[in-house]
Amino acid sequence: MDFLKDKKILLIICGGIAAYKSLELIRLFRKSGATVKTILTNNAKKFITPLSVASLSQEKVYSDLFDHNNEAEMDHISLSRWSDLILIAPATANTISKLSNGLADDLASTVVLASDKNIFLVPAMNVRMWEHDSNKKNVKKLQEFGYQLIGPEIGDMACGEFGEGKMSEPINIINYFIKYFKNIKKHYKYKALVTAGPTHEYIDPVRYVTNKSSGKQGYEIAKSLSKNGFDTTLISGPTNLDPIKGINIINVNSAKEMFDATLNNLPVDVAIFSAAVADWKIKNFNNKKIKKSNNINLTLEKNIDILSHVSKHNSLRPKMVIGFAAETDNLIENSKKKLNDKNCDWIIANDVSDTSIGFESDFNEVTIFYKNKKFEKISKIKKSLLSDNIVERIISELN
Ligand code: CTP
Repeated sequence: MDFLKDKKILLIICGGIAAYKSLELIRLFRKSGATVKTILTNNAKKFITPLSVASLSQEKVYSDLFDHNNEAEMDHISLSRWSDLILIAPATANTISKLSNGLADDLASTVVLASDKNIFLVPAMNVRMWEHDSNKKNVKKLQEFGYQLIGPEIGDMACGEFGEGKMSEPINIINYFIKYFKNIKKHYKYKALVTAGPTHEYIDPVRYVTNKSSGKQGYEIAKSLSKNGFDTTLISGPTNLDPIKGINIINVNSAKEMFDATLNNLPVDVAIFSAAVADWKIKNFNNKKIKKSNNINLTLEKNIDILSHVSKHNSLRPKMVIGFAAETDNLIENSKKKLNDKNCDWIIANDVSDTSIGFESDFNEVTIFYKNKKFEKISKIKKSLLSDNIVERIISELN
C-alpha cells in the first residue's frame, strides 16, 4: 500500500556529518510518492549542497529567514502549514538545544517554533555528546513538548568511536513513517465527538449567563483527533476560534442545544466533554428586552448534565467517555468523585485557580484520573501538544 503517497514532508537538515544520509532519505521519500520541501541550516550547507538537495527533491530549497523571495511566496508559517509533518534529520545537539529553549534565530528553528504540526527528530551526534546530561535534559524536554524521536542507533561513528548517537538509516526512517501513516489510516474507522467552549443561557434577547471558557483545549483535541484520522464532530458553544478544516463543527448557544446536537451525533467510539456547560438556565426567558428600570429576580433551574446523560445511556454510550473537571480546590477528591458519579472512563482535571494556565491561555496543566484509580499529572504544556498526548492515549486505549 502507498502509505506515503501524496504526503507532504518538511525536512530540516542540520549541520552534521550524517547530513549525507538525508539525500538518500529524500530519494526514498520521493520514490514512495511523498513531496519533500527542505530547509538547510547554514551549517548543513557545509556538508551537503543546496543544489544536490534541490536536484533530488525537485523542489526549491529554503535556508534564509530573511529571504524576501521566500517570504513573498512561502514564508516560515506557510512552510509549516503546507506540511503533514516536520522531520529534522539529522538533528544535531546544537539544534536540539536551541529547540528545547525556544530559540528562533534562523529559518529552521523559527519554522519549528511557529508550527503546530507533529515534529520528529532523528538525532545524530558523537556518543559523548548524546550522553551528556545537558543533551539528555534537552531531549527529554522536547519529548515533553510532544516531539517524537527516531533513533539514534548504536554503532560505529564517523569520528571513529562506537556507541549510541548514530543517525537511523534512511530506510528505517521510511519504514517508521509507513507505519505511522498506516496507523493514522487505521483510525479512520473511529468516530469521535468533542464538546467545547461555554454555553450561553439567555435571560432575554440580549443578556445571558455563562461560564468562563475560551474553547481552546476542546478545539485542539478535535484537531488532534482529526489529524490522527478520527472522523470528528465538534459541538461548540460560542467562541472566538476559527473553524477547523476537515472537522464537522456544529455551533450551538445553550446547554439544551449542545445536548440535542450531542444526541443527534451519537453513536461514536469516543466522546470528550471539554465544554464548560452552564449548570443553570433561566426558568422564565423573556422574549422582550427587560428594561433596566425594572427590578428583576432571576429564577434558575438546573441544566441537564450532557456528559452524565451520555455516559449512563444504555445503548448510546461510546466505548470511551472522557470528562473534564475544572476545580479551584480539592482537585483529587473532586475529580475522583466526578469520575464515579458521571460514569466516565477518564476525567481530565485542571486547577483553574492558577490563572497562568487554563481558560484563555495556550497552555494547560492537567491530571488524568483513570477508572482503575490511577492518576497521572501532565506538567504545563501547550494545549495543542497536550491534545496530541491525550489522543495518543485514546488510540492505545481503543486499540
Ligand atoms: N458537563 C456537561 N453538562 C453539564 C455540566 C457539565 O456535560 N450540564 C460536563 C463538562 O463538559 C465536563 C464535566 O461535565 O466534562 C464536569 O464539568 P464541571 O463544570 O467541572 O463540573 P460540574 O458537573 O458542573 O460540577 P461542579 O460545577 O459542581 O464542579
